[in-house]
Amino acid sequence: MPRPRRLSLLGSLLALLLLYTLYHRRTPSSPPLQTIPDDCPSHPDLSDILVILKTGVTESRDKVPVHLTTTLRCIPNHALFSDYIEPLSPSISTHDVLSSLSPSLIATNPDFNLYRRVQAHGPSALTPADLNPDINTPIGKPNNPGWKLDKWKFLPMLDEALALKPDAKWYVFMEADTYILWENLLVWLRRFNPREAVYLGNQMQIVDAIFAHGGSGFILSKPAVVRAVAHRKRSSDGWERAVGEHWAGDCMLGILLEDVGIELTWGWPMLQIAPPGEMDYFDLGYERRPWCYPAVSFHHLGEEGIKQLDAMEKKVKKKGPLLYRDVFLHVMRPELRDVRPDWDNMVEGEAVPVTSFAACRGVCSREALCLQYAYNETAGECRTSKALALGHAQPGLSAGWMTERIDAMAESLGECDEISWI
Ligand SMILES: *[C@@H]1O[C@H](CO)[C@@H](O)[C@H](O)[C@H]1NC(C)=O
Repeated sequence: MPRPRRLSLLGSLLALLLLYTLYHRRTPSSPPLQTIPDDCPSHPDLSDILVILKTGVTESRDKVPVHLTTTLRCIPNHALFSDYIEPLSPSISTHDVLSSLSPSLIATNPDFNLYRRVQAHGPSALTPADLNPDINTPIGKPNNPGWKLDKWKFLPMLDEALALKPDAKWYVFMEADTYILWENLLVWLRRFNPREAVYLGNQMQIVDAIFAHGGSGFILSKPAVVRAVAHRKRSSDGWERAVGEHWAGDCMLGILLEDVGIELTWGWPMLQIAPPGEMDYFDLGYERRPWCYPAVSFHHLGEEGIKQLDAMEKKVKKKGPLLYRDVFLHVMRPELRDVRPDWDNMVEGEAVPVTSFAACRGVCSREALCLQYAYNETAGECRTSKALALGHAQPGLSAGWMTERIDAMAESLGECDEISWI
């Protein structure tokens, strides 16, 4: 009777299959924090990543919504960390990551004036002085209350991230003016071991501390977060005092990590402090040339800049990662022209007296390495530069680029058959 025998064969195959799946199944990860739209590309790695966008009540309503439809749209686990709890869409609210700091610090430290006011009366308690963007100086924005409060978020942010998704392999931190190219970040992270303590970011230095710059985006593996959280807990008052005495929260995080023996992996040029129009694609920095590196982050972006990068990612279809070369060719190069009236291309060279725009171009063309120039008609001044920048609209200045030289330079740097990685 062949039938039972076939059944038992099938049965044992099924049993084997069951054993195999039981043996090989992954530890079930917690359900995603968000439901992502159906048209999002599927990326199994994304379920192991928690993305944290750090913001504050003085900017959240203006700067965060664009991310919900671009940068964060297809991220199944993301959270908005702030200094005030408020809904920013029907489906997402911010977290207050400062509430766990000691009550006496919150009640007495002047940095928390804004925080106390907004906790008591909501965002309507914000004054014009709170909302003043303030100029950025080498030590940040010392007259901006939101900026002064922001440094306090960096350490408690780790505890909150760990509590939100304790089974993540990677914790990715960004800000409201950061753009991240996820496809590239995921490929990059596969080169690191998430079971080790990894701290990956754009290197910065203050005195002798080396740390990941917050606005460029940075990444911590779970063991790094766990060790840092445990270390701070042993002396939370001491760390509050230390943060009080320092002006940069991202630097304090670097110091905390260094204290537990976790060294920064230098992420430049894959993580950038500037927007696409302000980075020099051609030049060496830290002995590396950005050209053939995958682009992972940009910074100092407004809503338009974020939308532009999002659109570029959708438009440029290529095999393999999007490189800085591609960003240059698709985002920056189309903006460079021989003449651009009422434009400042951020040339900082010495001023040469000339009487016309054409003469200014002449000055640049006689300097072998000059790539761009700007003419101030009122002053009759010409400035030239060997570095490349796009800049911004500015009445009273005319900008120009040596497009042939620029194209020749781009040509000579090649098509990147070999991709550079860190
Ligand atoms: C052009 O030069 C004049 C005179 O030095 C200066 O006042 C003005 O700010 C300059 N314009 C720009 C746009 O830099």
